[in-house]
Amino acid sequence: MAESDKWVLMATAQTPTNIAVIKYWGKRDETLILPVNDSISVTLDPKHLCTTTTVAVSPGFEQDRMWLNGKEISLSGGRFQSCLREIRSRACDFEDKEKGIKIEKKDWEKLHVHIASYNNFPTAAGLASSAAGFACLVFSLAKLMNLKETPSQLSAIARQGSGSACRSLFGGFVKWIMGGDENGSDSLAVQLVDEEHWNELVIIIAVVSSRQKETSSTSGMRDSVETSLLLQHRAKEIVPKRIVKMEEAIKNCDFSSFAQLTCADSNQFHAVCLDTCPPIFYMNDTSHKIIGLVEKWNRSEGSAQVAYTFDAGPNAVLIARNRNVAAQLLQRLLFFFPPNSDRDLNSYVLGDKSILHDAGIEHLKDVEALQQSPPEINNIPAQKYKGEINYFICTKPGRGPVLVSDESKALLNSQTGLPN
Ligand code: DP6
Repeated sequence: MAESDKWVLMATAQTPTNIAVIKYWGKRDETLILPVNDSISVTLDPKHLCTTTTVAVSPGFEQDRMWLNGKEISLSGGRFQSCLREIRSRACDFEDKEKGIKIEKKDWEKLHVHIASYNNFPTAAGLASSAAGFACLVFSLAKLMNLKETPSQLSAIARQGSGSACRSLFGGFVKWIMGGDENGSDSLAVQLVDEEHWNELVIIIAVVSSRQKETSSTSGMRDSVETSLLLQHRAKEIVPKRIVKMEEAIKNCDFSSFAQLTCADSNQFHAVCLDTCPPIFYMNDTSHKIIGLVEKWNRSEGSAQVAYTFDAGPNAVLIARNRNVAAQLLQRLLFFFPPNSDRDLNSYVLGDKSILHDAGIEHLKDVEALQQSPPEINNIPAQKYKGEINYFICTKPGRGPVLVSDESKALLNSQTGLPN
């Protein structure tokens, strides 16, 4: 590196993942990633599930490079290339007089980037890591290259990395408007309400064990678009009405309506998967047992206490109406799905452990002592499903992306631009 080429300019950001309560399933344009219907999601607290990304530029870098969880990956894919191209074309002049760095708009095209990304949750657990990943890539590059775009405009770039990523540009509840333009400029995300609006909600994710190789969302939804008549009906007749009702439920914090719509939409998405040729099975027996448990409980209470939703895999995302219900939900989940005897509670319930405390559970023996509730009428002991769940994560609705100013949290070295 020549003396004048020695500077490295960096930015680090943290971006949450999200879970759809009205699902995106099906594209009308595969390259631009334009959906066949609007969707709505809730952003998950980045404390428990998020991606951190550091991006850097330097005249000394010879090519664009990326590392995911410490391992170098290829950036040659069309989706990465789309995001990089869209961001570079919007980059603006930048100057840091103190460091003697001056980059003009036209120079950004010639500068290569280094990107390092890290998920604070297992990438292989099927927890929408691509949504947080692409959102963080776009957000951090936009900061580095001094883009003037609004978060919604950035969401239209993140969308081209992975559809669901566009909804991770905001906290709280978020709507991805499908848009109508052929070039995709109006297919973007908007925030419906921020994370404080409905802050009673508690989210418990059950990460299901024994995961077989699943069909990716991308290829699954391509098959559904080509073969499922139910998908056409859903996109045209069902989702538009559901979106209106869901926005209303969220605005009014109306849990009964929210839960009814969330569960129905998850079930219809999985029905579309079954209606696909060849059929796609994302949920498994454990997923079905969890649905049974929630449905039974909601019915016995006479009003919804918990909503469930499942993405392209067997993991359950359970949304409890408040902390009290969440504590009861955790008791019930731990009663039916206790950990294997070699596990410790600390690695079995992750995230916000105060819910465990509320549930009166401090040790494994407290799990063993749990009683079935409500008790079986015929006194037959309930069947338990030890080992079917890998772990639980307790979380809540969370905030959108943020820049991380603490340089010690950067994933790239500020001198070399290589992973720390
Ligand atoms: C079931 O966003 O992963 O999670 O756009 O092809 O990258 P691509 O698909 P992806 O699909 C997510 C599908 C879903 C529902 C949702 O998040 O709305």
